[in-house]
Formats: sequence, structure tokens, C-alpha cells
Amino acid sequence: MSSHAKLMEELEFPYCENASEKYEKLTKIGQGTFGEVFKARDRKTKRIVAMKKVLMENEKEGFPITALREIRILQLLNHENVVKLIEICRSRAGPYNRFKSTFYLIFEFCEHDLAGLLSNANVKFTLGDIKRVMQQLLNGLYFIHTNKILHRDMKAANVLITKNGVLKLADFGLARAYSSLNQKGGPPRYTNRVVTLWYRPPELLLGERSYGPSIDVWGAGCIMAEMWTRSPIMQGNTEQHQITLISQLCGSICPEVWPDCDKLDLYDKLEVPKGMKRKVKERLKPYVKDQFALDLLDKMLQIDPSKRVDCDTALNHDFFWEDPSPSDLSIMLSRHNQSMFEYLAPPRRRGHVPQPQQARPPTDQHFERVF
Ligand SMILES: Nc1ncnc2c1ncn2[C@@H]1O[C@H](COP(=O)(O)OP(=O)(O)OP(=O)(O)O)[C@@H](O)[C@H]1O
Ligand SMILES: [Mg+2]
Repeated sequence: MSSHAKLMEELEFPYCENASEKYEKLTKIGQGTFGEVFKARDRKTKRIVAMKKVLMENEKEGFPITALREIRILQLLNHENVVKLIEICRSRAGPYNRFKSTFYLIFEFCEHDLAGLLSNANVKFTLGDIKRVMQQLLNGLYFIHTNKILHRDMKAANVLITKNGVLKLADFGLARAYSSLNQKGGPPRYTNRVVTLWYRPPELLLGERSYGPSIDVWGAGCIMAEMWTRSPIMQGNTEQHQITLISQLCGSICPEVWPDCDKLDLYDKLEVPKGMKRKVKERLKPYVKDQFALDLLDKMLQIDPSKRVDCDTALNHDFFWEDPSPSDLSIMLSRHNQSMFEYLAPPRRRGHVPQPQQARPPTDQHFERVF
């Protein structure tokens, strides 16, 4: 054991309660790259929480920096549409864990995640429901962007919804603070190895390292389309494949639509399809009947990040203000008395947006084969 780890043990974490003494684990609800998530109950107050284990296996130098970053950001962000971090707990170090404590992030519990809801064909979102989901999602994003935080991992599984119909952005494991300039006054250089491939915007795929809030808007646009298609709209197998899928839906990535995109590091290294027409509205129309929704989707899925709508403008879009108005999700959710999480759901069918001639509006019966 390193001297640093030893010191950590000796300090005994006086402000960090023992996880298993305080909480009783009920069921496993998530398995991510960085650890397991459990539903648990406070033994004393009976409050239900979510416990996210901090993976320490590969750590030689004590507490992992990625978890520290997640905690710092969650402590900063206090908003109705951002998941609330209650506290950090530890396990007792002993011979069973090679004298290394495990840490848990304790969160307020949300009954569902959006991936779980979308994978269940019995869950039907009306247009008003979809408006309410997107309004809360953009509201949460607007708040974190105002606080100069990028989420960097937008996807349906990272969007939680309580049984009362309140949406919470979750999983700040990849989030970071951003600014338009670095300390020396130049453009910032962040890693572009972020965001789950299917939700990754063109600028990240082309190697941009000085990106901003618009990367999260792209992901939000993918999620919005998924509210109707019920399955991720661009399921690439590789970064190259993802670029191809984006070009097929959004048109060619070229300097005519996005000035200077050809200067990005990977523009010449990847094959960027030429002469593709933009078909966002055309190909989503069979699923998304609402003209306002199609228009907003078109603005969120812009290839050029500087032309992509920001959250504030999106929230003012007619989609949210024309009839039907956003509806209270708790009414629809009250018809379901089981938690729905991606981890517990059967895998969603892979597929792609069908071409217009074969496109069919998704109904319950066709749900499996549409996307
Ligand atoms: N507060 C919560 N309430 C209910 N379920 C939660 C909560 N937090 C997380 N979950 C569930 O656990 C899953 C995994 O949690 P989270 O996304 O935070 O970590 P992760 O998946 O390990 O991170 P990554 O997505 O980067 O791999 C979520 O998709 C969700 O289903
Ligand atoms: Mg996650």
C-alpha cells in the first residue's frame, strides 16, 4: 500500500459515513464504465436513494480525479433538472478489500431513465409529453451551460425521470468546466474523446478540441428524435461509420455548410462523404408528424456548431408555445408502477432511419423493427 493510501485510511474520513451501516442495498439498477449503481434505502429515514460506486481498482494514488471532478461539478449545480448529490459514503477498509475503502456517491432516487422508458412499448408519449421532456431537458442544459459546464455525455440513459414527471440530467462523469479562452488567451484544448459515439457531434468526430455547449445540443437533438423513433437514430459502429451516418441524415460535412471544417485534424484522415443532401426533415417526417418539432430538430442537428441553436433559443421555439402545450408527465407515468432503466430493459433493436420509400410510422406492433 502506498504511503498516501495509508494516510487516507488513517484519517478515517470523519465526515464520510459508512455506506452499509447507513444504507441497505435493494437492487442493482445500473452498470456503467465507471461502476455499479444500486437502489438503496436509508435504514433510519427509509428514504430511497441511488448509490453509485466509485471504481478504485486502478487507482494507485488514492481518490480518482474523475470522481472528484464529478463531485465538484454536482456540488456546484443545484437545479430542479439536475440530479441532486446527497452525500459521499465509504465502506470500511479491511482485509476483504485489501485495506482500500470503496466510495459511493449517494443521489436522490429517480424511478426511471429515458432509455428504459423508450425501450418499453407500453410507455406512450403524447406530443404534449414529448414537449415536457424536451423542455425540461433543455432547461437543465441551459442551466449547466450558464454555469460554464459541459455535460459531454448526453444520451437517453443519462436522463432520469421521477415518477412525478420531473426530468433530471445525470452522469456528470465526463463533465467539465469550459471557457472560450484558456489561461494564456488562446483557444482551449479539451479532449475530443468524449460523448457516446451515437450522440457524438461532427466537430468531435473531426478532432475539434476547442468546442463548446453546442456539443450537448447535438446530443439533445438525437434524444429528441428518439422520443418518436424509440431507438437511437444514428448507431455507428466506428467513428468513420458515425461520420457516414451523420452525412446521410444531415448532408455532407463540407466548407460550404461549415466554413473551415476542412482545417480540422481528422478531416483528411477520415472519409467524409461528398455531395450528400440534407434529409433531416424528410427522413424524420414519417415519425415526427409535428412541423414545429421537425423545425426544432433541424436546428439542433446542424452540422456547423456555430449554426446549431442554443438552449435559450430552443426553449423559445414555437414547438413549446403552440398547441398542444407541454403536459404534466406524472399523469402518463402513473399508469406504470414499475421502474424502467436501461440496465433492466432488453437491448433496443439496432437499425437505422429507413429511407422515405420504406419508412413506416412506428406503431406498437412495428416498434421492434422500425429502428
Ligand atoms: N439518481 C439515480 N436514480 C435512479 N437511477 C439512477 C440514478 N443515477 C444513475 N442511475 C441509473 O444508473 C445508470 C448509470 O449511472 P450513471 O450514468 O451515473 O453512471 P455510469 O453509467 O457508470 O457512467 P457512464 O455512463 O459514463 O458509463 C443510469 O443510466 C441510470 O439508469
Ligand atoms: Mg451513464
